[in-house]
Amino acid sequence: MSEQEDIQPEGSMRPEMKFPDFPSSDTVKALHETIEDEWDFLQLSACQTAAGRALWEHVIHDPAAAVLAGERQLRSIHEKIIKDRLNNSREISGVIIAVRTLWFDSKIEDAINSFNGGESQVVILGAGMDARAYRLRCLKDAHIFEVDFPKLVQMKTLLLQEAFGSTNEHNQLKVVAKSLTRIAADIREDDWYEKLQRSGYVPHRNTVWVLEGILYYLSDLNAMQVLKTIAANCPFTCTIMLADFMNKSSTTLSNSSFHFYSDWPDHLLPSLGFTDVKLSQIGDPDADFGLMRDPLNLFNKLRHLPRSVQNHPDDGKPCCRLYLVKASGSPEKTVT
Ligand SMILES: C[S@@+](CC[C@H](N)C(=O)[O-])C[C@H]1O[C@@H](n2cnc3c(N)ncnc32)[C@H](O)[C@@H]1O
Repeated sequence: MSEQEDIQPEGSMRPEMKFPDFPSSDTVKALHETIEDEWDFLQLSACQTAAGRALWEHVIHDPAAAVLAGERQLRSIHEKIIKDRLNNSREISGVIIAVRTLWFDSKIEDAINSFNGGESQVVILGAGMDARAYRLRCLKDAHIFEVDFPKLVQMKTLLLQEAFGSTNEHNQLKVVAKSLTRIAADIREDDWYEKLQRSGYVPHRNTVWVLEGILYYLSDLNAMQVLKTIAANCPFTCTIMLADFMNKSSTTLSNSSFHFYSDWPDHLLPSLGFTDVKLSQIGDPDADFGLMRDPLNLFNKLRHLPRSVQNHPDDGKPCCRLYLVKASGSPEKTVT
């Protein structure tokens, strides 16, 4: 067998990716009907992300993901996974969400550890159906703030209460973080930071900012404003921001609902006040998680091309990239 034949397509480490079992009462179903009828694509993206996590449960342990995703979103991604498998695709649907989630999980843990104890904060902007406050042990001394649209915050609380709020010990979901506060706010508005502070966020406390799957839904102006607001904290406290950025080609595909992009976030962020910036691409050693073994998959091919290359030399297609970025700043390193 040649080396090439020995390589398994992505996602095949697990013989099957089953449709998940999850507690779904009539009320949970009714709540998801409301979501499907009333939410726009932006809010629905939260359920799609949760569905990706639920279906990649062999690598992500998220006990709330399936309930938060809902049956329709789960079925939609599950069907794509089955097709990808039948077609022997090198990339299996949901693999980007899986790698991205694991990258954020590991970088959050590293960030919390780098604070060397004491109370810290994690602010998740565009938190959607993120359930890290329930699933990451490293957050046990951290205060978590989840920010999203009022509609989403309210629905997430209802779904979790309905699915896991019973007195049955086996069916409970416990917050592992020191505290969890949900804040209903639109981060395009000027008042979100004030709302965060009114909800207990302390600007002088070490903070990890999590911007996962959010920046590219914002306009240039709004995204830059959010980044500047976060950078403005660097002179006061240890600030670590974790964010994913799309490059220009990713946002200019037809039917794209994405706006903000940066081809060079590692240049942009220092200009805003962050001192250390580290950029990874899917498939890099810290963004692999055993899911990117095939050297010929799209991600591995892309990351071996210089980032300035706009079109792939093999087929002329635009190089659509997702950058995973850690940026930090602290009072000692800030030049005033
Ligand atoms: C793709 S989802 C990602 C959710 C979450 N970060 C995760 O990884 O599970 C994008 C989320 O951003 C939220 N969002 C988008 N624009 C927002 C805004 N202007 N203010 C607050 N939340 C926003 C959406 O409601 C949605 O929950």
